[in-house]
Amino acid sequence: MLAMDYRGPYRVRAAEKAEPKIEHPNDAIVRVTRSCICGSDLHLYHGLVPDTRVGMTFGHEFCGIVEEVGPSVQNLKKGDKVLVPFNIFCGTCYFCKKELFSNCHNTNPSATAVGGIFGYSHTTGGYDGGQAELVRVPMADVGPTVLPPDMDEDDAVLLTDAFPTGYQAAEMGGIREGDTVVVFGAGPVGIFAAKSAWLMGAGRVIVVDHVEYRLEFVRNFAQCEIVNFKEVDDMAIHIKKMTDWLGADVCIDAVGAEATGNALQHLTGVKLKLQAGAATVLHWCINSVRKGGTVSIVGVYGPTFNMVPIGNVVNKGLTLRANQASVKRHLPRLIEHIQAGRIKPSEVITHRFPLEAVADAYHIFSSKLDNCIKPVLLPAMH
Ligand SMILES: NC(=O)c1ccc[n+]([C@@H]2O[C@H](COP(=O)([O-])OP(=O)(O)OC[C@H]3O[C@@H](n4cnc5c(N)ncnc54)[C@H](O)[C@@H]3O)[C@@H](O)[C@H]2O)c1
Ligand SMILES: [Zn+2]
Ligand SMILES: [Zn+2]
Repeated sequence: MLAMDYRGPYRVRAAEKAEPKIEHPNDAIVRVTRSCICGSDLHLYHGLVPDTRVGMTFGHEFCGIVEEVGPSVQNLKKGDKVLVPFNIFCGTCYFCKKELFSNCHNTNPSATAVGGIFGYSHTTGGYDGGQAELVRVPMADVGPTVLPPDMDEDDAVLLTDAFPTGYQAAEMGGIREGDTVVVFGAGPVGIFAAKSAWLMGAGRVIVVDHVEYRLEFVRNFAQCEIVNFKEVDDMAIHIKKMTDWLGADVCIDAVGAEATGNALQHLTGVKLKLQAGAATVLHWCINSVRKGGTVSIVGVYGPTFNMVPIGNVVNKGLTLRANQASVKRHLPRLIEHIQAGRIKPSEVITHRFPLEAVADAYHIFSSKLDNCIKPVLLPAMH
């Protein structure tokens, strides 16, 4: 089969690989109809995630058609159209019982923090991902969701990660009626966080980025205010000026380790790897939020950090919340929002590439060329 194939930093290609097989009775094999590239894939593509092995297939946002099921699978059958959450989770461990599916204790032998994730290096279990014609889906009775009959596949594929992650970012902000919410990052995750903030009762939503076409997009898609950080001297003071000098009630980090905007952070965090990423947006969140406010982090960081203003967290009495999204928990609610016409997630899709062109797709998305917001890869259908 054809699949995305990682060769090393900034080098990916489409290559012929062996077809996946059922390895466990609760596996399914899914024929992929669509897969996206996520901002998280860029951390892999840029060589920033440890133990990303040559030959791995990325891709944790995909939907498709069930091709084959293992002997113990009861909830799926051949021919079902499914969307597959990016988390691989067992559904029965201590954490899954608390609906912390992203923290499943059974699907990632390499770590105790995050559970299994499709196509996301051996630090999340080493599972091959869905930027391929076929993918093995473990725990097939638990993860995949059969598409409701009226669901557009372009909307469905965004329910596997970007939309639920943005939604959870807003949810973790504990937004109350009328709150001012600042979202850092106008990528797909930040765009959905901004839209979700309104769904949760925000009174004001401000999105910060420096890529003009993305700011324009989010202004229209989420009817929010926008700030280009290149035009701002000091982010915390700017946000305070915008909020009667109080600060925002909620700040959301939808950027993570590869933030630009602070040369020292970028040098030490991204170039020299002296710390596990640039903590620029973390600083901006902690310093721009009001006393007693909440910082919600969904941007991805490496595990260790030193240059974080933790003293300000203590002295301001902040609540810090963070996680990888637990996609499955949000699906019933988000499907309802789509069906009610409150949001059309597929509006963020700007590019479609045949799977063969995966190298171009990564390059265009990574370099923010051609006004790219969300690229979708389309395997040829047999
Ligand atoms: N927690 C989760 O479950 C989860 C799921 C999906 C993605 N993520 C993470 O969320 C982040 C965003 O994902 P995405 O797909 O939207 O990525 P993306 O790369 O498309 O978007 C990131 C945006 O951040 C902007 N940016 C860079 N520095 C900034 C700064 N200092 N201030 C404000 N904006 C800045 C970039 O210009 C870009 O538009 C990534 O770190 C990704 O790994 C987390
Ligand atoms: Zn992702
Ligand atoms: Zn579990």
